[in-house]
Amino acid sequence: MADHAILAGKRVLLVIAGGIAAYKSLELIRRLRERGVTVRAVLTEAGARFVTPLSVQALTEDTVYQDLWSLTDESEMGHIRLSREADLLVVAPATANLLARMAAGMADDLAATVLLATDKPVLVAPAMNVRMWQNAATRANMALLESRGLLRIGPNDGVMACNEYGPGRMAEPMEIVDAIAGFFAEAAYRPLAGRRAIVTSGPTHEPIDPVRYIANRSSGKQGHAIAVALAKLGAAVTLVSGPTRLPDPAGCTVAHIETAREMLAACEAALPADIAVCAAAVADWRVEGAGDRKLKKDGGGPPALTLTENPDILATLSRPGERRPALVVGFAAETGDVLAYATAKRARKGCDWIVANDVSPGTGTFGGSDNTVHLIRADGVESWPTMAKDAVAARLAEAVAEHFNANLKAK
Ligand code: PMT
Repeated sequence: MADHAILAGKRVLLVIAGGIAAYKSLELIRRLRERGVTVRAVLTEAGARFVTPLSVQALTEDTVYQDLWSLTDESEMGHIRLSREADLLVVAPATANLLARMAAGMADDLAATVLLATDKPVLVAPAMNVRMWQNAATRANMALLESRGLLRIGPNDGVMACNEYGPGRMAEPMEIVDAIAGFFAEAAYRPLAGRRAIVTSGPTHEPIDPVRYIANRSSGKQGHAIAVALAKLGAAVTLVSGPTRLPDPAGCTVAHIETAREMLAACEAALPADIAVCAAAVADWRVEGAGDRKLKKDGGGPPALTLTENPDILATLSRPGERRPALVVGFAAETGDVLAYATAKRARKGCDWIVANDVSPGTGTFGGSDNTVHLIRADGVESWPTMAKDAVAARLAEAVAEHFNANLKAK
């Protein structure tokens, strides 16, 4: 259970949407207020069918905000201010309808408008019928919102008000309180605050001609997760990303590039930095003289492509000098003798650490959700169990933070 002391003095804007679980939100308000949280509430029209504005007002000891249009009066608080004067927005219950409107970026009532206008983190506690929760539309909306950084607690499994059984019950009020305390504890833990980081991610595309290119199977999942994990610990992160299907992660500056040469230029533009993590799968070679005319199949046989070496971004960033980041971390993608090749690569490229992973067909490392890595440092090798790429990223970011803290203590 999270330490609740962190909650005192925090401000939560609670959005109560229309679901049977809305009655639990009254309990949630009480539990938060007992812990010193200021709770301001927005009640949707449907929400007001399940709990009365009077109950919400009595428990929050504040105005209950319901109508988008009444806020246009200068004497009232505008919806922008309402959405910004909180440390966290909590949507409980979050109905399928409200999640769909949030995913679509709609602003058709006060709740949706506030959620669209906010610059603060949002935690949702979904509550709906099990089939609604399992519907592909709801799953897609939820996945999209989470990819944009939205936080979620629940839903729990159990018997629903409609007598069906399965996931869809809103998390219990104390579980939501724990999640809120956990959020604030995590937000306060910023051991990399004040540090700048560069992370490379994804593949590069090297043109053969204006319509064809050389690429590889990197999805960017591992590199993007590392950027997010470093940002979570307080680092100011520039993510230099090759072409991927992933959304830009919230909280990072993103430079989109296509080729290795563009990736190097973007990394150099992001210097100075304290940390560089090169997780991108950069093409070692490009086609010399790739022109601006499409190669034609003219009966003369296949064209002869001459390859020329690309710049090595990791080796360039690792080069000793004033602008070298204090900690440079490379990746090694190997298909055999992983530790031996990766150890040699660390020495050859001059980076401080190298994260070795096996990318043989069948491992699913390229494009998959999990990774099995070995962290190779000057003082030895740590082999980590297979984990989700997010978890690998979190553990690596933690190791980076420990490295800087240890160095600070040593000074
Ligand atoms: O993107 P995902 O689908 O999530 O997959 C993750 C991953 C397998 C791509 C990732 O975990 C990984 O291993 N990234 C490094 C891929 C790679 O190109 O490895 P390499 O062994 O060929 O290169 C060694 C290091 O040099 C890497 O840090 C690479 O970014 C860097 N490099 C390589 C060539 C080059 N021209 N410039 C570089 O900076």
